[in-house]
Amino acid sequence: MRVTVCRKAHFNAAHRLYVKSWDDAKNEEIFGKCSNPHYHGHNYELIVNVTGTIDPVTGYVMDMKVLKDLIKSEVVASFDHKNLNEQVPEFYDLIPSAENIAVVIYNKLFSHLEEDKTLEIVLYETPRNFVKYSG
Ligand code: NI
Repeated sequence: MRVTVCRKAHFNAAHRLYVKSWDDAKNEEIFGKCSNPHYHGHNYELIVNVTGTIDPVTGYVMDMKVLKDLIKSEVVASFDHKNLNEQVPEFYDLIPSAENIAVVIYNKLFSHLEEDKTLEIVLYETPRNFVKYSG
């Protein structure tokens, strides 16, 4: 019996979506406001879903305190109130789109989970725009 436990988290971050080899006009054509050379921010809402079997002793799939601390140390501490393009090494050469941010978060968290667990990341960039990644 596999059950999914879910934890919500939040971070604010700035980004700019642009292709370095394109000029500002081409970037604005493709990325619109998200290509503003002076950056802009989003209130990212993160949902981390971990699926696994229930431990018969604890009744837990995963200790939520451990999951909370993992999200805090691996994601929030690195991303919150940061300029993703300039301050987060994973995005020095990777466009910080919601899609790529979700993949980076997945990779940062997955390596810390026990082997039998599966992970799904849901990342809201705005209340209406969100992406999902599960490896
Ligand atoms: Ni944006």
